[in-house]
This record gives sequence, C-alpha cells and structure tokens, in this order.
Amino acid sequence: MSGHVVVVGSANVDLVVDVPRHPGPGETILGGELVRSPGGKGANQAVAAARAGGADTTFLGALGRDDAAELLLASLERAGVHTDLVARPHAGTGTALISVTADGENAIIVAPGANSLLTVDDRAAARLAQADVVLAQLEVPLETVLAAARARRRGAVFALNAAPSRDLPADVWAEVDLLIVNEHEAADLARTTGGEQSAAEAPTELAMALLARVPAVVITLGAAGALVAERGADPVTVPAPRVTPVDTTGAGDTFCGVLAAALAHGEPLAVAARRAAAAGALAVTRPGAQAAVPTADETGALAAQTYAPVVEP
Ligand code: RIB
Repeated sequence: MSGHVVVVGSANVDLVVDVPRHPGPGETILGGELVRSPGGKGANQAVAAARAGGADTTFLGALGRDDAAELLLASLERAGVHTDLVARPHAGTGTALISVTADGENAIIVAPGANSLLTVDDRAAARLAQADVVLAQLEVPLETVLAAARARRRGAVFALNAAPSRDLPADVWAEVDLLIVNEHEAADLARTTGGEQSAAEAPTELAMALLARVPAVVITLGAAGALVAERGADPVTVPAPRVTPVDTTGAGDTFCGVLAAALAHGEPLAVAARRAAAAGALAVTRPGAQAAVPTADETGALAAQTYAPVVEP
C-alpha cells in the first residue's frame, strides 16, 4: 500500500425493490422482492477505495446498534476497510429506500439516522492528518465535512463528492481541492457561482464555472464517461466502456472511491479518472451498491481493453 484514503460519510442499509417504473405522487405500485444490502455513499466509496487496491482505506462514519450496523460492518471489513473509527451512537443505522427500474435507473430516499450524528473527534482528526486523500459526500452534517477537511495535513487532497445536491457555504468551498459531481449537481453548484447554468449546459461550460471556485473538477456523465477539468489545463473527456446497465445504484460511489485510491497511489487525475470510469462501468452491470464494486483486477482488465496506454513524457 502506498497511500492512505480516509472516507468520511454515510452508511445506510439499502432496502431495494425492482419496479416496472417509479411511482408518481399519491400512487401505489407493486414491485419485486425486497432486497436488504449494505449501502450509503460514504461506505460504498470506502469499499470501492479498498477494493481498488493500492491505498489503505479508513471509513469515518456512524452506525446504530442494530442488525443493519452489523451488515454494514461486515461488508466494510470484508473489503479490507479499517472500521476502528466508526461511531455507534444511540440511533438507528441510516436507511435508504431504493426503487430500481429494468433499465437500471434508481430513485432513492434516505432516512439519515445515525449519519446525522457523525462528528470528528481527536482520534478521527489524528487519522485524517495521516491521509493522502480525504473523500467526503453530503449525507452527513456539513460541519463534519468541514472539520474533516480542516484536519487533513498540508498537501493532502480534500475531494468532495457533492451528493446529494445542496448549496455549499464559502468555508467548505475554500477547502475543496477536487469536486466530483454529476451533471445535475454541477448545474446546481454552478448556479451558485453567479452564472445561469442548467443541466442542459455543456459539461465543459459547467466545469469552467466551477473552476472559479475549486482547482479541479470531475463531472461524471453516466454512459458518456467523465469530464476532467483542472485550472490551467485543457479539459479532458474520459469515455466510459460500453456496458449493459442492470442497476446504477452506487456506480458514482464506485467512481469516487476508485478515483481517490488512484490519487492516493500517486496517479495524475486524468489517468485516475480512466480507472474510475472503468470501475463505475463494471458496477452498473451488477445489482446492489457495495456488492457491485469490482476488484482491482477486473477494473484493470477493462481499463486496459478500453484505453490506450498512457505514455509518460
Ligand atoms: O449512491 C448510492 C447510495 O445512496 C445508496 O447506497 C444509498 O444508501 C444512498 O446513500
């Protein structure tokens, strides 16, 4: 292992039902069998970072004292994630209600439970200070995200996956080294930079608007791959391998976790994004969130098939 990633974020038990279509307001529909599986953006990203290989991964999160917590701890530990900093407050473990249609699209409602009680204590701050990459999302309190970012050492990367979408205060913006968003989140955040951006705007325009606030942005584009934009460099489009989607739940999380591990391992952002796009593509071909995260070998094989080797100058 040559790098250390700390993922700060949510852990949820996912209650998943296949549906013919998502219900409208006031509507009841019949779905398939209920599946209960480990999820939560933070825990999914930690599993993805650990399974990517190359980086030691710690998860900083909060779980309840219930069966769901045991399911999540078992999944994290199976992937090789350090769970010694996981807090166990007197609250229920976070729960996500997920419907998935036949084309793999999902709709998700999260009841945060213990996630909303996550804080950064002294032990957590000490571990954050050893990280090469600190990766967070927005299913835990913003104050916790900010405290985690501020606890990192000088030179470490603070990567924020700004999901689910919400406005960010100036003090959080000021900490972000790398913003990872989908097109909708990019448009929401770009609007707060004073522009008139919408999700219909070209990703490059959205990225340029966001570069006014952060030094680097990755916009994930689903089947179209990802756009990597860094201040002072031309934006790079990373195509995604072609796959048949089964369930998109957690594919973005796989992308983020694998990206963080590759950065901690010392890969340049555009190269790390290829590995992340390959892993994300594999994840959509399998049901579930953490269960769908590919191994390093699977990701490496698909990335090698898809992308020409990078020639170092
Ligand atoms: O990104 C997918 C995740 O969002 C699910 O696992 C669910 O728990 C929610 O956090």
